[in-house]
Amino acid sequence: MTDRPFVEFKSVYKYFGKSRSLTGLQKPFVQAVRGVDLGVQRGETIGIVGESGCGKSTLARMLVGLDPPSSGDILIEGKNILQLKKEKHHALPLKVQFVFQDPISSLNPRHTVAEILRAPLKYLRNLTDAEQQEQLHYLMEVVNLRPEFLDRYPHEFSGGQAQRIGIARALAAQPEILVLDEPVSALDVSIQAQVLNLLIELKQKFNLTFVFISHDLAVVESISDRVAVMYLGRIVEYGETDYLFSTPRHRYTWLLLNSVPEIGKELHGPAGDASILPDPLNPPVGCAFAERCDSPIPKCHKEMPELQDNGSGTEFACFNPIERG
Ligand SMILES: Nc1ncnc2c1ncn2[C@@H]1O[C@H](COP(=O)(O)OP(=O)(O)OP(=O)(O)O)[C@@H](O)[C@H]1O
Ligand code: SF4
Ligand SMILES: [Mg+2]
Repeated sequence: MTDRPFVEFKSVYKYFGKSRSLTGLQKPFVQAVRGVDLGVQRGETIGIVGESGCGKSTLARMLVGLDPPSSGDILIEGKNILQLKKEKHHALPLKVQFVFQDPISSLNPRHTVAEILRAPLKYLRNLTDAEQQEQLHYLMEVVNLRPEFLDRYPHEFSGGQAQRIGIARALAAQPEILVLDEPVSALDVSIQAQVLNLLIELKQKFNLTFVFISHDLAVVESISDRVAVMYLGRIVEYGETDYLFSTPRHRYTWLLLNSVPEIGKELHGPAGDASILPDPLNPPVGCAFAERCDSPIPKCHKEMPELQDNGSGTEFACFNPIERG
């Protein structure tokens, strides 16, 4: 028997705008996440990658309790996060914290850094004033920022510094899991490397588990133990980073890897109509990638392939995978 994963997504779906019209007819609704099953082990970094609109942020927001799933369950140590969210003593935010993409706008412009960092120390951890003061200095030290910055406001910082504050704010709750949604995408490439290195160091130091979202394959490759590739709300391939990057079996993974020749280049499919994602209001019946795929078979247009472990290194959802010798 295998150990239960630390974090589990079980058949998770998320719809937006699902309601009936006055005539009782179902209105069109966005199918943002369409049946995700995923396990994350304690201490690992799972990278989630895919083009804009494939459901990465929706998955992240559900994990931190910002949005409930439409159906399915998300569990941390076997406990449903909706249950954790209801529990007293801030059970959910003390377990899992979010780091946002846009560092400056994610910080309250009217609060100093000290006030921003103090909130979780006071309200989530109930520390005394003296303990808060000590922690403020400690948090600044761990993210390599000078203590005199505590009295400044977010707009006084560069993007990289602001993201360090965002990371410090997340760490202030002493969480076990950090959900990082495009944490370096808004930063210059040279600063990205510094922030990534800091994250790797902090992960070790505080024994963290990372769910790391990015549309930048090079960034995901540099930090993740395992990677989940998403397409139109579903995971289409999943496996150990090195293996998945060197030996993709799903044709979408292959396309992503082969349309990103330069480090830091963003994800785009091939030029022209073939790069357009299907409509999430009306997803295709079969494989969502079929219209863009170079080798579909008739079944691809009729049935939705499920993610399967064929014992070949990665799990993939494809009826006609890339053959490997
Ligand atoms: N609150 C919402 N209401 C309606 N539709 C939404 C909402 N949030 C997300 N969506 C839709 O759900 C789908 C998935 O969006 P999501 O933000 O999760 O994608 P993403 O992979 O994070 O994209 P990006 O790389 O651009 O951040 C998209 O079609 C998006 O338009
Ligand atoms: S299931 Fe079919 S259409 Fe989808 S990626 Fe595989 S071969 Fe292509
Ligand atoms: Mg997003």
